[in-house]
Amino acid sequence: MLGNIISVDGFSSTGKSTLASKLAEHYNFYYLNSGLMYRIISYFALNNDCIIKDKIKESKLINKLNNLNFDWVIDKNGNKSLSFDGKIFGEKMYSFEISDIVSTVAKLESVRNFLFRQQKNLALQKSIVVEGRDIGTVVFPDAKVKFFLSAELDIRTKRRNKQIKESNISFDTKKVEDNLIKRDKIDSERKIAPLKKAEDAFEIDTSKKSQFEVFNIAKNYIDSNFQF
Ligand code: DC
Repeated sequence: MLGNIISVDGFSSTGKSTLASKLAEHYNFYYLNSGLMYRIISYFALNNDCIIKDKIKESKLINKLNNLNFDWVIDKNGNKSLSFDGKIFGEKMYSFEISDIVSTVAKLESVRNFLFRQQKNLALQKSIVVEGRDIGTVVFPDAKVKFFLSAELDIRTKRRNKQIKESNISFDTKKVEDNLIKRDKIDSERKIAPLKKAEDAFEIDTSKKSQFEVFNIAKNYIDSNFQF
């Protein structure tokens, strides 16, 4: 049985993580970052000789993923994080190396099927806010509340550069815009589960809005239309 689901889909660097984690905190839901799951699988592939010279060895990767699972880890303060194969993966999942390969890994049907099952399992018996690209369209088409975030490219590039400067990740900031454009294209043009707005999703253009304003718009939309 699934609990209440709120999906937050949209392009890269539109503020999905900020909104989804704030909503999860506000409604006391679990927060699932499905993009992080694709990044962890990309990292796993790179470190298990499943990507050689940008070529992905799909069947080798899927065999190695057999019996490995994502799970929730709850620390003594009640904070919930995501683990894969019992380990927690941090900021380095946002390095250039991973960002450069992740959309190509995410195109693979076997990887999408694997993560589809994992996402369904993580949501069992739980109320959850899930961010991604295909959450309201493919993974949880019956989600009670759906959001779709968009923003102008130059604003997204500035936000991503700021995030990179504030963190310890390695990324050539000149490559940020190119990487966003490349991922937008691969993510929205792929055959399986492309990035698109669900018909019943509520769209928020975050270009000229603060995180606080975006959260308030989403919260007002939820509180005026749904009951949990
Ligand atoms: O949200 P993010 O930028 O961390 O996601 C990384 C990549 O993962 C993104 O370029 C496309 C892919 N992705 C996906 O295909 N489907 C999802 N539900 C989430 C992410």
